[in-house]
Amino acid sequence: MKKNNVKTPRFGWALTGSGHFFKECLAIMRELADLDVFVSLAAAEVMRMYRQNLSLPPSTRIYKDTTASAAPVGNFYYGVYHTLIVAPATSNTVAKCVYGISDNLATNVFAQAGKCRVPTIVFACDTAPELDTEAPKGMVKVYPRRVDLENTERLKSFEDTIVVENVGELETALEARLKWLKSYSS
Ligand SMILES: Cc1cc2nc3c(=O)[nH]c(=O)nc-3n(C[C@H](O)[C@H](O)[C@H](O)COP(=O)(O)O)c2cc1C
Repeated sequence: MKKNNVKTPRFGWALTGSGHFFKECLAIMRELADLDVFVSLAAAEVMRMYRQNLSLPPSTRIYKDTTASAAPVGNFYYGVYHTLIVAPATSNTVAKCVYGISDNLATNVFAQAGKCRVPTIVFACDTAPELDTEAPKGMVKVYPRRVDLENTERLKSFEDTIVVENVGELETALEARLKWLKSYSS
């Protein structure tokens, strides 16, 4: 398969183990056509803790983190994806992305998107010194550390990468990609 021979390029979406905005991200994913989802091991656990299930449109392809080499990333080489979304992104995933570590499915799709120049949207969770977040048993307060906040800032300087900090910004960034896709395919 040659690059750009793909008839319908897809959204790639990496789901990580963040309770913060997990349900909101699932709701947005359910509205997207032509979607491939990459689920980190922690995301699969968090999904069960919040009693959520993926229940995505039938056309959605779901990739679980079962290989050391992150085998599904091969699709990035062939133009299968027009956009990658990493949402919600844990502080762990953001830190690894910032330092170029790719040791699981989520961090590998981020790295490969970068190396294949696929525009990426990252919904970072640790964006303020004090946050209200939904734990499995209800709302709690958390205080992201300086290192978490600094990593989010560092990610903003990455090429082809938009870092969003709330659901509204995520929706706006997605709409811009859908608009681009429409103009690109017409
Ligand atoms: C119920 C629950 C909620 C969590 N929520 C968050 C969160 O909002 N933000 C975060 O950075 N980590 C959160 N974590 C911790 C991550 O799941 C953990 O750091 C994990 O190793 C991240 O792996 P990943 O980045 O590969 O998905 C949560 C863990 C649990 C059990």
